[in-house]
Formats: sequence, structure tokens, C-alpha cells
Amino acid sequence: MRVYSRQGLALLFGATLFVAGSLSIVVAQSVRPLPQPPPGVSVERGKYLVTAQDCNGCHTPFKNGAPDMTRMLSGHPAAERITARPTLPAGWTTAISDSNTGWAGPWGVSFTTNLTPDRGTGIGTWTEAMFIAAIRNGKKGGTGRALLPPMPWMMYGQLSDDDLKSIFMYFKSIPAIANQVPNAIIAPPPPR
Ligand code: HEC
Repeated sequence: MRVYSRQGLALLFGATLFVAGSLSIVVAQSVRPLPQPPPGVSVERGKYLVTAQDCNGCHTPFKNGAPDMTRMLSGHPAAERITARPTLPAGWTTAISDSNTGWAGPWGVSFTTNLTPDRGTGIGTWTEAMFIAAIRNGKKGGTGRALLPPMPWMMYGQLSDDDLKSIFMYFKSIPAIANQVPNAIIAPPPPR
């Protein structure tokens, strides 16, 4: 069984909320609002949005039950090999890997992507337009296949252009980490 720190639990809670739809755990922790960045487009605003919307909860690999910030936003670790969707006990739908970056469910297995500015394995060569299209349309790289759960693009796509530009600007400002995230394992459609 995995044991989570309180911070890890809170982050996992946010992530699981999307997967499960609802969850009735009360985490005994109070949180305070972050300092408000100025409106408009800025790295500072991007950091604020990324923090409050928990991109790290899924895109930063966990270590000891919390995101390992030395690997901030670098996605599912290449070394953590997952080759198939696990067989789950009756009554269960989804499973999450130890690092909190591999997600198995009816869609197959999705792996959180590398959002650092590494040019080979991250978003270093992406344009701002690609990023906005990926989040607004739920498509890989902006125009590719449909993004799989649990990426909450339907919610983030409701952010303003300035907010999405700020998030992209922040991602471009963080340390580049080379990590080749594996391709998703896409489940065949259910039989009719
Ligand atoms: C609940 C978990 C979860 C959260 C929270 C989350 N993501 Fe994701 N994200 C994923 C997964 C899983 C994928 C890969 C989906 C796939 O392969 O289809 C993904 C994919 C993406 C992609 C597409 C990358 C590509 O190659 O096209 C972008 C961009 C992205 N996320 C940005 C963000 C941002 C920005 C945030 C925070 C505002 C965020 N994500 C929060 C799980 C999450």
C-alpha cells in the first residue's frame, strides 16, 4: 500500500476528483490563497495558475508520496516501464502508477507528458499557438489524436487566452529536463 504525505494526498485528491467524478474524503488541511499576480501575460501569472490548478499533481513524478520537484513537470519517467493495463479487481475502474504519472483505465494507459522546455522530449519546439490549441481542443500537439483521461483539458480550455499564454510562458521559463515519455497504450473500443 502506498502512504501519502498530506501534500501528496491533497494533490492526489485533485487528480482523483477528475477521474472518479466524486470522492468523499475530507483532507484535514487548510490552504491559503497564493499572492495574486498582476493581470495580463506574465511568467508569474503562469506559475500561479500552474500551482493552483495542480499541473504538478499529474505531470511531476511522485517520490515518497509527493511531487519530486527536482523532476518538475517532466512527465512519466522513461525508466518506469508500463507495458499493459493492469487487471483490476471487480468493481474497480482505474489505477495510477507509483509515480502518479501513469494512468490506467478503460481508455488504456496514458502517461503524463513532459511540459519542460527540453527541445527533444518536452515542449521546447512548441509554439504558443500549439499549446493553446492542445488545451482548447484536447488534441495532442494541438492537432493530433484526442487527449486521453485524466488530462482535464475541458476545464483548462475555459481559461482566457492571456492565462493560457502565461502558463506557456512559465513552462518555457522552467529548467529543461530530458525525459522521453512513452506513447500511450490505447485500448481497443469496447465490443458492440
Ligand atoms: C489529472 C491529471 C492531470 C492534470 C491535473 C494535468 N494533466 Fe496534463 N495531461 C495528463 C495526461 C495523462 C496527459 C497525456 C494524455 C494523452 O496521452 O492523451 C496530459 C497531457 C497534457 C498536454 C498534451 C501534451 C501533448 O503532447 O500534446 C498538455 C499541453 C498538458 N497536459 C498540460 C497540462 C497543464 C497546463 C496542466 C495544469 C493546468 C495539466 N496538464 C494538468 C494529466 C493531467
